[in-house]
Amino acid sequence: MKKVDFSQVLNDYNKILPKGVFLTTKNDGEINTMTMGWGTAGFIWNQNILMAPVRKSRHTHQLIENSDYFTVSVPLNGQLKKELQFCGTKSGRDYDKIKELDLELAEVKEAEVPIIKGNDLHFICKIKYQQDMLKEKLDQDILDKKYPDKDMHTFYYGEVVAVYKEE
Ligand SMILES: Cc1cc2nc3c(=O)[nH]c(=O)nc-3n(C[C@H](O)[C@H](O)[C@H](O)COP(=O)(O)O)c2cc1C
Repeated sequence: MKKVDFSQVLNDYNKILPKGVFLTTKNDGEINTMTMGWGTAGFIWNQNILMAPVRKSRHTHQLIENSDYFTVSVPLNGQLKKELQFCGTKSGRDYDKIKELDLELAEVKEAEVPIIKGNDLHFICKIKYQQDMLKEKLDQDILDKKYPDKDMHTFYYGEVVAVYKEE
């Protein structure tokens, strides 16, 4: 694995994000991953930041609430489709998704949370800020269409402390 600059991979990330990436969390020894298709990547507080939007209903929400880090593993070449589908429809409350899909994890030195091998890019993120969405501040049309059950997102802003490219 090669360390690369955030700016080098920003475009690739933004382009592929809607197709799904793996958001991995760990708390109390439990590792879980879910598919994430929304988010932002940018620059604030003089830091490179990935923002992960996680609805309160997700098992991931429970884990990330109790962690300082998350990782994001990104398939750029259409691989791991079945795995993205599974991790985007099944909850870690009901399945050990890592075991079920035989996902290979790798430890990283920057964080307790591992990455998922077989992806092209990996972001190691340290949470610097989080924010619950405020319904009353949201555009009514988006609220009606995207939040019919008022299952709002929490936005987790992680400083990108390392980016790795698999070779
Ligand atoms: C393509 C795709 C993108 C998704 N993006 C998000 C997202 O950005 N935020 C979110 O909270 N859920 C998203 N989901 C839904 C979660 O991945 C799904 O509810 C998952 O089962 C949650 O797993 P968990 O309960 O183990 O956390 C997405 C699902 C798919 C298929």
